[in-house]
Amino acid sequence: MIRTAIIGCGAYTPSRVMTNSDLEQVVETTDDWIVQRTGIRLRHIAAEGETTADLGERAARAALEDAGVSIDEIDLIILATSTPNHTFPATAVEIQARLGMQHGAAFDSQAVCSGFIFALTTADQYIRTGFAKRILVIGAETFSRILDWNDRTTCVLFGDGAGAVVCEAIEGEGNSSDRGILTAHLRSDGQFRDKLFVDGGPSTTGTVGHLRMEGREVFRHAVGMITDVIEAAYEATGFDSGDIDWFIPHQANKRIIDASAKKLHIAPEKVVITVDHHGNTSAASIPLALCEAAHDGRVKSGDVVLLEAMGGGFTWGSILLRW
Ligand code: UT7
Repeated sequence: MIRTAIIGCGAYTPSRVMTNSDLEQVVETTDDWIVQRTGIRLRHIAAEGETTADLGERAARAALEDAGVSIDEIDLIILATSTPNHTFPATAVEIQARLGMQHGAAFDSQAVCSGFIFALTTADQYIRTGFAKRILVIGAETFSRILDWNDRTTCVLFGDGAGAVVCEAIEGEGNSSDRGILTAHLRSDGQFRDKLFVDGGPSTTGTVGHLRMEGREVFRHAVGMITDVIEAAYEATGFDSGDIDWFIPHQANKRIIDASAKKLHIAPEKVVITVDHHGNTSAASIPLALCEAAHDGRVKSGDVVLLEAMGGGFTWGSILLRW
C-alpha cells in the first residue's frame, strides 16, 4: 500500500528575539509569571515588513534542500496558516511563485494551532489516493500581527515562525512496521469557537482583528481532547505509549504538554519541548519542533513519532508515524 513518508524538513524563525523581560516593558507582567504558567522564556517576532510568506518560503527552501528534492518534483503545496499575507489569494500561491513553481497547485489550510496536523493529514490523503507523489507541507505564522499588545493574558504567549516538511509516496506493507504516516485523526467542535478567536474578518468587521482567548477554558479542555485523539491513534495501530519514541506536541503551554504526557504515561525524556524558546507559534509549532529534533539527531530513522495539536475552533488531531 502507499504510505506518506516525510523525507526532509526545514525551519525558520525571525532574527528578532523578544524575552520575557522585554515584555515586562510592554505590559504588566513578570518573567516569573510567564515561566511558571507557560514555560515560555522567549519568542521570535517578525521584523516590520517580514510576512508569513517570507517565513514560509525560508522554511520551504530549507525543507527542499534537506530532502534533496527540487521544486520541479513537488506536485502540491499546502500551507497551514491563520495569519495569511492577504485575505486572498492563498499565501501558498505566493510561496509557490517565489519558489518558481508553475505546475501543480497550492492552497492554504486553516485550523489555527491544529493547522499543521490538518494540512499533513490532507497531504497524506492526496498521496495515498495517488493524486500527488510529493507534497510540500508548510506551517507558517506571524501571530505578532494579530495580538493585542495591551492584553497581557494573550500577548505573552505567542511567537512567529515557520516549519516545513517534504512528503513523498513510498511503498509499504500495510502494517504498523511501515515507514511513514500510520494513522491520522482529526476533530473539531464549533460550539467552542468563541473560546479562542480573532474578533475581525472580511465578512464581519472588514478588519483583521485581534486574538481573544479564554485561556482557562481552553486549558480546561486541552488535555482531554489531546488524550482522545491519541487514544484513537493507539486503537488504530495497536501501539501504546510504551511504543512511542518521540512525542512532539503542539507547543502552547508546558503545563498542558506535561499534563498530557503524564496522563498518557509518556516519559518526560521522550517529549520534545520548544515552547521555552518559540512560544506558541500556532500552525508552525509542530514542524519547528519536529525539525529541531530531527536535525539534532534525536529523531532517527525507524523511530515512532506521535504528533498532536489542539487549538481554536476547537480543533484537535493526532498523527502517528514511523520516521
Ligand atoms: O494554542 C492554542 C491553545 N491555547 C492554549 O493551549 C492556551 C491555554 N491556556 C493557557 O495556557 C493558560 O490558561 C494561560 C497561560 C493562558 C493562563 O494561565 P492560567 O494558569 O490559566 O492563569 P489564569 O488565566 O487563571 O490567570 C491567573 C492570574 C489572573 O489574575 P487573578 O484573576 O487570579 O488575579 C490573571 O489576571 O494571572 C493573571 N495574569 C497575568 N499575570 C501576569 C494573566 N496573564 C498574566 C500575565 N502576567 N501575562
